[in-house]
Amino acid sequence: MWKAHYDKIKKEKHPPAYTLSQTLNLISSKDKFKAIDLGCGNGIDTFAMLEKGFDVLAIDKDSNAQLLLQKQISPKDMVRLNFQNSSFESLDELPSADLVNASFSLPFCHPHQFEKLWLNIINCISPEGFFCGHFFGSKDSWSSNSDMTFHNLQTVKKLFEGFELLYFEETAKNGKTLSGKEKFWHVFHVVAKKHHSTK
Ligand SMILES: C[S@@+](CC[C@H](N)C(=O)[O-])C[C@H]1O[C@@H](n2cnc3c(N)ncnc32)[C@H](O)[C@@H]1O
Repeated sequence: MWKAHYDKIKKEKHPPAYTLSQTLNLISSKDKFKAIDLGCGNGIDTFAMLEKGFDVLAIDKDSNAQLLLQKQISPKDMVRLNFQNSSFESLDELPSADLVNASFSLPFCHPHQFEKLWLNIINCISPEGFFCGHFFGSKDSWSSNSDMTFHNLQTVKKLFEGFELLYFEETAKNGKTLSGKEKFWHVFHVVAKKHHSTK
């Protein structure tokens, strides 16, 4: 299903997501910084985090993602990358992480499983750790898809009660998917830092 998306991203040599780039600018390189890339796809963001020296656990339900990562990874980074072929809906507890990145992926979690997934995410982020990623809004063209999860301003802000929002933008505009189809994009772009006192 995601092949066209992966091919397009690779061909055009896309940079990492803006939310991730912003987050990487806030973090000074340090040893043993643990990141999780949820819905890693072909790994544009995963590779940016590896380049920064992080240990990365990349998760995707599409096993092609693993092949694409393996094809492109430089040998020196191999020891710092783990791939888990799991769906968000079936994820057990996530390991502790300093950063969870989820670029354009969490909306594809089934709404019945989203709350469990979100609790899992916020519990795994260490105090003063980061989340960056995207949520889709209820005005998005795909919002009639009952297998996907959509938010509004209130519900998305509520997700971040234990966090400081460092970057928050809501966009709503016509555009295209990477495979060229017209759609209305209603997206919340988020970078957040977990408060020190919450787990
Ligand atoms: C739009 S792509 C984004 C890929 C990558 N994060 C990026 O920004 O280029 C969504 C990714 O999420 C993965 N995905 C979709 N639904 C998923 C689910 N329920 N569980 C795990 N991964 C999922 C897809 O396989 C795909 O790689």
